[in-house]
Amino acid sequence: MIESLAPKAPDPLLKIIKMYREDPRTDKIDLGVGVYKDGEGNTPVMRAVKDAEALLLAGQKTKTYVGQQGDVDFLKLVGQLAFGAMSREFVSIQAVGGTGALRLGCDLLREAGAKRVLLPAPCWPNHPSIVRAARLEPIDAPFFNITEQRIDMDALIASFAQAERGDGVILQACCHNPLGADFSLEQWTQLAAALNARGIIAFVDLAYQGFGDGIDEDVAGARRLLEQVPEAIIAISEAKSFGIYRERVGALFVKAAEKSRAAVMSNLAAIARANYSMPPDHGAAIVREVLSDEKLRASWREELDQIRSHIKRTRRQLAAARVNSMPMHLIADQKGMFSTLPLDGAQVTRLREQHGIYMTDSARINVAGLREADIPRFVEALKAVA
Ligand SMILES: Cc1ncc(COP(=O)(O)O)c(C=O)c1O
Repeated sequence: MIESLAPKAPDPLLKIIKMYREDPRTDKIDLGVGVYKDGEGNTPVMRAVKDAEALLLAGQKTKTYVGQQGDVDFLKLVGQLAFGAMSREFVSIQAVGGTGALRLGCDLLREAGAKRVLLPAPCWPNHPSIVRAARLEPIDAPFFNITEQRIDMDALIASFAQAERGDGVILQACCHNPLGADFSLEQWTQLAAALNARGIIAFVDLAYQGFGDGIDEDVAGARRLLEQVPEAIIAISEAKSFGIYRERVGALFVKAAEKSRAAVMSNLAAIARANYSMPPDHGAAIVREVLSDEKLRASWREELDQIRSHIKRTRRQLAAARVNSMPMHLIADQKGMFSTLPLDGAQVTRLREQHGIYMTDSARINVAGLREADIPRFVEALKAVA
């Protein structure tokens, strides 16, 4: 039986990572991997995280299970951070990273009778896999013109016709991966009205809070939408905001009418129970410690501010470059770590082979992967291939 399994294609990003690792050139540039890097190219542990871990190590008295819902104080704190007072009304459950939260949310949608999930495209490449794994149909909803680096709201809203009442649409709250292009407040309002008109459930994916314009600024649009829709699902990842990628910290929140909240919670508990049973503790405990201690919280915010400033500075430097007809200036307005350049596969290959510059096959770059000293060389290489 097992011997008859057909092999699956590996994640294309892994291929790029391997090629980068094996490239002997000392001036190679890695813009492929999706983790934050500081000016020296490192992804250090944040000071507040280290301090919280020391507190946990000294104070932890038991390793027994945390309970089905997870760490309730963690959930309150991250809910408040993301949605303010309205989070008190949401059903919540800890999840195994943002990915685990997305999967829980898709499973819940299916239990509720959904058949499809619209994915504004290009989307994070794991979204369609998660949707399919939950036995829902992913539907591509093209909404971005890469050549012009522009969101096409009309196309996105027209694509809602492909869904039926109760289906979902995944909307990235901020710092879009892979585009860096976020909805304006007006566009969030437009989305809320269009979703309400069709009875489609907003499924908000929040994975980069604090990486765009600020903790509150980055969720202002999603909050506006959530105020206007009767039901919604929100998946949160704390991997980037706290730099705790490998700790797998996430949470799922559901906005629902009061009378159905107990049923929502019991469904989520049943889905989690049959999957991984209880969530891991350590990463969520770190976030709880940081957010509940004034000093640690201030230290975390300060470091997050530095991360954001570094990304913004690199974006401004890139945006100042002139590269043939590429709309480089728009890179400064985009948010978070990622942008997708208007390059085809052959151009991406030339950048890799001739210039030692690595990005995904779809020309997504991690702006944070670009050290200041490398910017002129990167721009010259772009000019050579574009
Ligand atoms: C848009 C988006 N959503 C969700 C995630 C999931 O993050 P994690 O599972 O690492 O917490 C990521 C990670 O890259 C992402 O880019």
